[in-house]
Amino acid sequence: MKPHPTVAKSSPTLHGRNRGAFQRKLLAGCTTISMIFPSTILQRGFAQEAKNTKPSVQDAAVRQRADALLQQMTPEEKAGQLSQLFLFTKPDATMESRIAKGQVGSLLFVTDPSVINHLQHVAVEQSRLHIPLIFGFDVIHGLQTIFPVPIAMAASWDPDTIERAQAAAAKEARAVGIDWAFAPMVDIARDPRWGRIVEGAGADPYLGSAVAAAQVRGFQGAYIGAPDHIVACAKHFAGYGAAEGGRDYDSVDLSDAQLRNVYLPPFKSAVDAGVGTIMSAYMDLNGVPATGNRWLLHDVLRDEWKFGGFVVSDADAVNNLQTHGFAADKADAAMRAFTAGVNMEMALNKDAYDNLPAAYKAGKINSEQLDAAVRPILETKIRLGLFENPYVDEARAAQVLGATEQKQESLRAAERSAVLLRNEHALLPLQGSGNRNIAVIGPLADSKRDITGPWVFVNKEQESVSVLEGLKQIAPQGTQFTYSQGVQISRKFPSMFDAIFGGDKTPVWTEAEQKQEFDKAVQTARSADVVVMVLGERQNMDGEAASRSSLELPGRQQELLEAVAATGKPVVLVMMSARPLELRWASKNIPAILDVWYPGTEGGIAIANLLYGKAVPAGKLPYDWPRDVGQVPIFYSHDVTHQPEKQGTRYWNEESTPLFPFGYGLSYTNFQFSNLHINHDQIHRGEGLDVAVDVRNSGTVTADEVAQLYLHQQSGTSSRPVRELKGFHRVTVAPGETQTVHFNLDTADLTYWSAATRSWVQDDTRFDLWVGDDSNASLHSGFTVAP
Ligand code: BGC
Repeated sequence: MKPHPTVAKSSPTLHGRNRGAFQRKLLAGCTTISMIFPSTILQRGFAQEAKNTKPSVQDAAVRQRADALLQQMTPEEKAGQLSQLFLFTKPDATMESRIAKGQVGSLLFVTDPSVINHLQHVAVEQSRLHIPLIFGFDVIHGLQTIFPVPIAMAASWDPDTIERAQAAAAKEARAVGIDWAFAPMVDIARDPRWGRIVEGAGADPYLGSAVAAAQVRGFQGAYIGAPDHIVACAKHFAGYGAAEGGRDYDSVDLSDAQLRNVYLPPFKSAVDAGVGTIMSAYMDLNGVPATGNRWLLHDVLRDEWKFGGFVVSDADAVNNLQTHGFAADKADAAMRAFTAGVNMEMALNKDAYDNLPAAYKAGKINSEQLDAAVRPILETKIRLGLFENPYVDEARAAQVLGATEQKQESLRAAERSAVLLRNEHALLPLQGSGNRNIAVIGPLADSKRDITGPWVFVNKEQESVSVLEGLKQIAPQGTQFTYSQGVQISRKFPSMFDAIFGGDKTPVWTEAEQKQEFDKAVQTARSADVVVMVLGERQNMDGEAASRSSLELPGRQQELLEAVAATGKPVVLVMMSARPLELRWASKNIPAILDVWYPGTEGGIAIANLLYGKAVPAGKLPYDWPRDVGQVPIFYSHDVTHQPEKQGTRYWNEESTPLFPFGYGLSYTNFQFSNLHINHDQIHRGEGLDVAVDVRNSGTVTADEVAQLYLHQQSGTSSRPVRELKGFHRVTVAPGETQTVHFNLDTADLTYWSAATRSWVQDDTRFDLWVGDDSNASLHSGFTVAP
């Protein structure tokens, strides 16, 4: 849609200062009408198209304006737009002079609005072409108000909650002057040893795609540049979650079929949702580093998917092309990344892309290539309105950060994310007079830092609510709490984030103290009516460079759990971590287990509400929970081969089924699925289907259930997984009520990448279909696809 000039005149712009002066500067040299439209109007034009089309190619006005700038830029200024630098400390004269010379296009890790304004003044007032900086940051699950970690939000199976949470996160970010989130991470992860499983949506491409799109919508709003929103970045393109041995950064070897059917769909979904940027991954993909991989960054991303935004490298990943034994030197690294399709280099120091002007002058790259790389960056800045409104209102930023509105969203998301794994004899919710004295035990029970999880840098720790604090606020009057930490837990090798931002300074207990604290915890349990144990992993045990070789509860937590259980008191185990830990013993001996992930700023309240039944758990696992690390990788959507009847006993020492299946999660009520109905028994290729099922709440409390639909293709060009998720709906059902849930299946749901034909195919065959409350759903039907 072309913007209309008369609308343009009356259009309001966002809050900002000195707008008139900068618009005058901006207008100088503009020769066409489209070059002078306020960006708000240009953005509206894009709004019509943002969801399903390729933004920058579509919007001619934005493009013309970017092109007008490109015509005035020197090769050095163009290379400057392709450079993104870290800024961890206060800016110094060198940094400011680089910005003034137009050598920097973007900065990351600046979160103080006054520093952002200061640097933006340098860029806009001192650089020759007055091009504003774009500020990026890892707004992974909130800025100051912290939301549940992304894997937790995926466990809500609720795209609406996810969208709302990321919109609230975007609001805080935009208020301080951050325009761009390095999120969502949409990497599929099937190996829980990999620490970054916390940042994604788990193991499944269908769920992962829905979550990816919801996050993009949340961050960006209806269009790039929407007020209170920021640009999203789908990362890490692609395959990063399949690191060998679950070791972060290690190589990845994936067949085309795995890539196309499992690892790429969430990226495609983000692109279809209009994501503005993509981050290239660190590792080798099938022998070619992702950051120098033209097949990925050009053939798939641009040619096939028509992505029109820009690609930023992961931190120092361009330089790293030398480490991979791929590029000969920095200049070669720059050429390889640039020609593969990396627009912007995220560098620890202005680095490899410094070599681009020389490469241009030597004729190794031409101005068309250079302009094509810079154009989408300029376009993004235009769409964001940065030329008109480069500065933020610092007073408003202070009001927005940590506001009640975001906290409420965070609380809601935390309550909706928790997964109830076990609840024998309805121990939960806690109620009645038998629960007057509660022992709260564990190294994570009163932690205000761990409860917000990793990837938190701006959070005010004192604002988050620990589990103990939450319980004290929510419990009925007269409830007595005793608390005991019991054990300390720590990493063997320190976290890189602790090295950068300072880790925990708590002194390590002596052996005598360890014994004393352990015994005290058991004693605390003895004198209680019920015990709430909060165990798991500290926040720095999950995240980047936080892989581990085992899945045991770190430290002496298992021993403590067993000692407390031996007192005979009923134990509620609250699991705080982002990966499935070893729960074989607990799943037989501990009556209630609630997985709360890292629930965020309001986590303590959310957990207390869940434990007391003020909120009813309805989260579902976004991965299969292994019995033992030796089963990894384990996922429900595997293929069947020889002796399927022995599938469950492939190991002679342990069952080969998971401890808890993908999609699993209990409630405080009971649901029944019935009346599964498909509107056709046979369809022709290209046609869709409607599937209906009744969900009945036969319990006594209103609660949510996630109806899940799985498909299996009986025969075809390639063999297909035993089941694949192809639909889900989270619904709220009152006691005694029955709701009919509908699923639409279309051609895309019946199509896959065939390794045999090396193309997308839809086979004519029979499909099995199941609907239920997890990936073991038993309500069965089927249909046939005919030519
Ligand atoms: C991570 C990215 C992150 C970047 C900037 C890298 O180490 O892999 O996910 O966005 O740092 O913090």
